[in-house]
Amino acid sequence: MKSHYLLNLMMKYLMDKNFYITTPIYYPSAKPHMGHAYSSIIADFFARFKRLDGFNVNFLTGTDEHGLKIQKAAEQKNVETLKFCNDISKTFRDLSKILNLTNTDFIRTTEERHKSSVQYLWKELEKNGEIYLSKYSGWYSVSDEAFYSYDEVEEINGKKQAIISKSSVEWMDEESYFFRLSKWEKPLLDYYNNNPNFISPPSRKNEVISFVKSGLKDLSISRKSFSWGIQVPNDKDHVIYVWLDALANYISALNYPDTNNDLFKNFWPASIHLIGKDILRFHAVYWPAFLLAAKIKLPKKIYGHGWILSGDEKMSKSKGNILDPIEIINKYGLDPLRYYLIKEVSFGNDGNISQKRLEDCINSDLANNFGNLCQRVVAFAQKNCGGKVPNKIDFKEEDLKILDNIKSNLNSIREKIDNQDINYYIDFIVNTLFETNKYFNDQEPWKKKNDIIRLNTIVYTTLEIVRKISYLLYPIIPQSSLKALMIFNIKESELKFSTLENHNYLKKNSDLNKIDILFKKIEKTND
Ligand code: MSP
Repeated sequence: MKSHYLLNLMMKYLMDKNFYITTPIYYPSAKPHMGHAYSSIIADFFARFKRLDGFNVNFLTGTDEHGLKIQKAAEQKNVETLKFCNDISKTFRDLSKILNLTNTDFIRTTEERHKSSVQYLWKELEKNGEIYLSKYSGWYSVSDEAFYSYDEVEEINGKKQAIISKSSVEWMDEESYFFRLSKWEKPLLDYYNNNPNFISPPSRKNEVISFVKSGLKDLSISRKSFSWGIQVPNDKDHVIYVWLDALANYISALNYPDTNNDLFKNFWPASIHLIGKDILRFHAVYWPAFLLAAKIKLPKKIYGHGWILSGDEKMSKSKGNILDPIEIINKYGLDPLRYYLIKEVSFGNDGNISQKRLEDCINSDLANNFGNLCQRVVAFAQKNCGGKVPNKIDFKEEDLKILDNIKSNLNSIREKIDNQDINYYIDFIVNTLFETNKYFNDQEPWKKKNDIIRLNTIVYTTLEIVRKISYLLYPIIPQSSLKALMIFNIKESELKFSTLENHNYLKKNSDLNKIDILFKKIEKTND
């Protein structure tokens, strides 16, 4: 009995140590832009943080390849649709590598494993009486792959467009299968109510709730007038609506319907679906309704982040205001871009990005603050401590104060991360860097050559903080963090968040390695 109880407790502990994060799967209608890179980098930040904190992480990204939007894009280029998808999907997969993402899978909706999973889900919905055949007459936006009601459409210069996205809509009159979405209105509202963090940040919740409260109509979930999609089981005239198809990627990648396999058992329900605010309705209304109807558990959280703006507008192909992440990376390097996007775009809100601000970030935070601290303390230790981690030390109040500041914040950092408060995390790092530079200046170790224990202690303390900050920076700027940790010969596999509690982690008398400059300062451009 007792061992059973302990086993359960252990299981719970182990289960709680699983973390599943997803990005939206991207339309391979054109090559990736900064907005896509942003979603992926943020997801990678969380994945790396959780891994650092001892979690078993599943991190999924991929491409959403069916539907009229993709079919039309391929037609325009005069390329066979699957070949078109293969080519552009590869640019997204390549970008994952370029962005140094630690995704554990990359799913394409044209893969067999996905198609069979979606068809199974359809059959489940059908079996549960959630689907019926009827006719859709209404507005459709190919660009959003979304149906809009009359009051969601406006006319500008004689052209109809969706008010919310400004994308043009066309009239559709078509036989279609419907999902009984209306039936889930109350259960969804109850769910939002009982799970107050399900839709985050809180500012986005009201938008969803008022949409649901305004009355949900049954949703058209198949198309008949084109064929680029997954066939509706037992009706070869229809393909499954691309959003039902796409949303299911989050479970098809876990081998649904095999709910007994380890991936599904460990990682469903997902810890967080990270998405852009433009696709909140699909994730916070349709997806949970499909899952409820199929009797599958709901994800724990949907987080809708803001947009990367280019000249005050959402970056998009149709607006022609695309910023290419690869160009920026070639010019400044990957880590500066990751740092900049994570720090400067207040998470959850829209953010305007500019090269000038990016350069400021590189110069002030990365080169002056972090890079300089590393170089300075190592150079000092080379000269005054024989190039080794000092051996004899004796912490005083001022040393413990700065070390304890990190230790005492570890739990709140974990909590803030679980609330996606990236701004807190980065502010904590920037402040700690500032405090550490100040500590080193104020302690004036260069004047302590006659008190070698004091000198050693200041160096040891500063080195410990360099280690700790490098760990904290690892989810943001992994390459540079690992480069800084080469000072101590610490390898990626050794990184553990819990060691940040330890003020004596660095092995006394071990060698300190010289490292190349971490960040080059940028000569400022004017943009
Ligand atoms: N294929 C759908 C998602 C299906 S998920 C089951 C889709 N694809 S998308 O390629 O158009 O956009 C995917 C995501 O890219 C957006 O939700 C958003 O996360 C991100 N972004 C696209 N443009 C963006 C910005 N300008 N800024 C920030 N992110 C934006 O929608």
